[in-house]
Amino acid sequence: ISLKEYNTFGIDAKAAYFCEVTSINELKEAVSLTNYPNKFIISGGSNMLLTKDIDALVIRIALKGIEVTKEDDKNVWLKVMAGENWHQLVLWCIEHNYGGLENMSLIPGNTGTAPIQNIGAYGVELKDNFESCQALHISSGELHNFTKEDCNFGYRDSFFKNDGKGKYIITSVVLKLSKKDHQLKISYGAIEAELLKNKITKPTIKDVSNAVIAIRKSKLPDPAELGNSGSFFKNPIVDKFIFDNFIQNNPEAPFYKLTDDTYKIPAGWLIEQCGFKGKRYDDAGVHKNQALVLVNYGKATGTEILNLSKKIQEAVLEKFEIKIDAEVNIIK
Ligand code: EPU
Repeated sequence: ISLKEYNTFGIDAKAAYFCEVTSINELKEAVSLTNYPNKFIISGGSNMLLTKDIDALVIRIALKGIEVTKEDDKNVWLKVMAGENWHQLVLWCIEHNYGGLENMSLIPGNTGTAPIQNIGAYGVELKDNFESCQALHISSGELHNFTKEDCNFGYRDSFFKNDGKGKYIITSVVLKLSKKDHQLKISYGAIEAELLKNKITKPTIKDVSNAVIAIRKSKLPDPAELGNSGSFFKNPIVDKFIFDNFIQNNPEAPFYKLTDDTYKIPAGWLIEQCGFKGKRYDDAGVHKNQALVLVNYGKATGTEILNLSKKIQEAVLEKFEIKIDAEVNIIK
């Protein structure tokens, strides 16, 4: 079957076999099927670039459910099954007046994959509201619990992208959210401006969510209309030596100081400076409003997108002597 519907890049790669699991038992059964030695897990399909057909049993995670597992005066703990759509969860939380996820409105993908790359936007990351997650250890068939420390979260990074890679399937996530006195994070430039534009001086979590939705819609393409995987690259983090040299030559460049010795430089800016913003090569392109996002105008293959990404990496390296790494998971 074609996986076009199951990956937000809209790449028409084929799966040799395909099944969807709606319970942990079905998942356990699917991973232990011995007549299909190769297994490939897919969830929201929003952070992958398929560059070939998948000669495996593709298992789509469709575990559903949101449950309050604990509550006190201030907080609520939600257990969310892996197959719940992330943005629907954010909206559900806002409806119930549970605060914490509002800055992460409209991020594509499902809840179970959110910890893998520690999704984040507008000054908030998943780890800020994360309590624990449960994952199926594929080789033993056992469920393991992971605390926040176990997950070893970093910028678009976690245990599941490193030592745990390919070994676990996250089945549910527990989030700790606020019930009152929500700590809003609106200092991230664009949010404040968006609120002011709408004359909102005392924002609620819903106002913040709406502001984020408006900002994202103005810059980021909707995968339902134009295939993409959000930011294709990570923003490079460089040391002070490289940064000093960079900023001397490019005094107008935006940057974020992380520590005294580390600086994050927006890859979107670097790519735009190399002249790629809005460029199109057949059906593979660079988005016109955000150069960090590669897009599929319809019939691009994964290899065409991958080749474009390599061309961009080479150009950025050549012009700035800075290496940018892919953020999306490239399936080769
Ligand atoms: N910029 C340009 N040209 C561009 C794009 C950006 O000059 O084409 C400049 C902007 O003007 C701004 C700076 O780069 O000064 C940063 O841009 P922006 O605020 O749009 O954010 P970003 O660093 O490009 C990151 C995340 C996004 C997240 C936004 C907002 C990564 C890899 N990306 O993008 O996450 O939505 O911040 O928090 O960290 C994603 O991961 O898929 C994603 C969309």
